[in-house]
Amino acid sequence: MKFLTVAATLLVLGLSIGWVIYQRRETPVANPMTMPHPEHQAVYRFGNASPDGIGKFFHGREIAQVMGHPAIGWLERENREDEEAPSRAIQMLDLASNAVIADIGAGSGYYSFRISPAVPFGKVMAIDIQPEMLEFLTKRSAELKITNVIPHLGAVDDLKLPPNSLDAALMVDAYHEFSNPEEMLESMFRSLKPGGRVFLLEYRAEDQEVPIKPHHKMTEAQARLEFEAAGFRFVENRSGLPWQHFMVFQRPLGR
Ligand SMILES: C[S@@+](CC[C@H](N)C(=O)[O-])C[C@H]1O[C@@H](n2cnc3c(N)ncnc32)[C@H](O)[C@@H]1O
Repeated sequence: MKFLTVAATLLVLGLSIGWVIYQRRETPVANPMTMPHPEHQAVYRFGNASPDGIGKFFHGREIAQVMGHPAIGWLERENREDEEAPSRAIQMLDLASNAVIADIGAGSGYYSFRISPAVPFGKVMAIDIQPEMLEFLTKRSAELKITNVIPHLGAVDDLKLPPNSLDAALMVDAYHEFSNPEEMLESMFRSLKPGGRVFLLEYRAEDQEVPIKPHHKMTEAQARLEFEAAGFRFVENRSGLPWQHFMVFQRPLGR
């Protein structure tokens, strides 16, 4: 009898402790990089991630993993001019001297600092989501004594800029890794002035000779699908760069 009482007490005690532990179990934390806003839920699909992707799909394209700040050395590589002709790309932007342009996904600011002399009365908003990139940009601005490149911390789904504040936006090898492209396109549309241009430079997925991993390339057709669905007008895809598309979109006038 005494044995049964002890056993029953231990059983009740065990069940109570188990219940408390179960109640206090850790709730899985949602990953903000892949969680869509509820109103954007419908535009994303989720599946198995490929080695370079995040398992999140936008208009059928798997979004690439973000390049981390340890790759700054690669962004600043000496042979980049030979491979990508960035100085030609910057000439092709054809910016007014007082233009305000956002370099979205600026990384180390390779493009931002080279654009700076083209807008002596304007500015380059060098936007990134990695604080380490912002630190690098800030140090580089001071070293180069450049005052019109403004390091700016954005969010994965928001440029955090006022509406109608940009004449142009540039993305070099960056858009394909935005985890929330739908929200970013909306944010870009709002921040551009009507008539403002978007320059989208992406490695050409149509060209097998371009030695870049598939998730870090885009076709013109895919880019048009995504940008036109967000209300942008396709202006042109200019040739002249060795590896990249130079696609121009526009926030239509009157919208
Ligand atoms: C491959 S790097 C390219 C950097 C630079 N454009 C260049 O060509 O030297 C892409 C950058 O985009 C940034 N990025 C990713 N998602 C972003 C977002 N939603 N908004 C702003 N930057 C983002 C990453 O942190 C990374 O620094």
